[in-house]
Amino acid sequence: MENTVEYIKAKIDFTPETAIILGSGLGGLADAVKNPIYIDYGELEGFPVSTAPGHMGRFVFGELSGKKVACMQGRFHFYEGYSMEQVVAGVRTLFMLGAKNLIVTNAAGGINTQFSVGDIMLITDHINFMGTNALIGKNDERFGVRFPDMSFAYNPELREIAEKCASELKTDIKKGVYLGCTGPSYETPAEIRAFRLLGADAVGMSTVPEVIAANHCKMRVLAFSLITNMAAGILKQPLTEEEVLETGARKGRELQRLIEKTVGEM
Ligand code: HPA
Repeated sequence: MENTVEYIKAKIDFTPETAIILGSGLGGLADAVKNPIYIDYGELEGFPVSTAPGHMGRFVFGELSGKKVACMQGRFHFYEGYSMEQVVAGVRTLFMLGAKNLIVTNAAGGINTQFSVGDIMLITDHINFMGTNALIGKNDERFGVRFPDMSFAYNPELREIAEKCASELKTDIKKGVYLGCTGPSYETPAEIRAFRLLGADAVGMSTVPEVIAANHCKMRVLAFSLITNMAAGILKQPLTEEEVLETGARKGRELQRLIEKTVGEM
């Protein structure tokens, strides 16, 4: 990872203040980055390469709303077969490059029946249902402590800024709890009913490991889900990846505008 950081530092002459992970179908935000410098994950020795559909697989460094940013256009999912350490390699690289804030986006299934397809959900908290934790193993003190606090995993100040920006843009946002599963199979209707009882509002296959790793190294986290489909069993129709990517393409732009504005005010 130190080699990766040195390699990137030799190519960019600034410290990114905010890092942004772009989820399934949400990579379009990277196109709004000014003076972009692209670094493909494939260029970075030992770095994983994302294989998930709708994910490009590169870092985009540049400016967004006057701020220095680093985007991950494409992330690593546990279901791709990566170790948890690989899943969070991007977050740790961004931390080592000096990023203080992390904005995470994802596509998620709506569990809360008040939600509709295309809604943006500001994540207020999460439930780790992945059956593992990104910090298992010997603790690396350069990142953080052995038992990191998760009481404010989704930074309250940043959430407040995002809510203010949404209201100024007249973008309706929902708020709720994200439950992370490993996938890659979607959930069963019985699992979704159980998750609703547990207090989850949306379900997805990412985000939780990255948010844990970011809190470990004391980055401030802000995260959004784009509700690309209603979770299994809510509508009398099967779930498809096409629906997820199609909603991302159609509604992703609104979330992109909200993130752009929020970055400017952070
Ligand atoms: N379940 C899990 N992950 C998802 C979903 C879903 O319904 N939609 C998008 N990602």
